[in-house]
Amino acid sequence: MTKKLLFVCLGNICRSPAAENIMNHLVEKQGLGDRFICDSAGTGGWHVGAPPDRRMRAAAKERGLDFVGSARQFQAMDLREFDLILAMDKDNYCNILALDPQGKFTDKVKMMCDYCETYTDKEVPDPYYGGADGFNYVIDLLFDACGGLLKSFPKN
Ligand code: 4NP
Repeated sequence: MTKKLLFVCLGNICRSPAAENIMNHLVEKQGLGDRFICDSAGTGGWHVGAPPDRRMRAAAKERGLDFVGSARQFQAMDLREFDLILAMDKDNYCNILALDPQGKFTDKVKMMCDYCETYTDKEVPDPYYGGADGFNYVIDLLFDACGGLLKSFPKN
């Protein structure tokens, strides 16, 4: 069965597209491309249609990765459409669940950092207003979390 994963942050130009691209990279590397569909979205709508932030793309490029995508806003329908929704921080988590007043989909919504194996962060820090170090940190953290996330699925 194909699993549909949705990564969610605020603007959908820094953290969640990074998570989507890193997860796709790990999935492809393990030859599991037919097992997962990854997407990302932002709880805010300011950057709809924009590619991943230039600084995030530059940090990715240094590791030989090309981050692609076009920002979109999270919508209530996503709660129905996706099997697992990964929130980058607590605000994202609360804003996602605010669109599910009856709590029907609570079990599908998780914190991305719950899957970390090495890092002890509880949230993926927002790098938007900081320097290049923040973008590099987010990529390292997301490699850890995405690796743990991938291991959380049964092998066959
Ligand atoms: P993201 O980062 O949520 O990781 O995509 C941000 C992008 C844009 C803004 C804030 C955070 N903003 O305020 O426009």
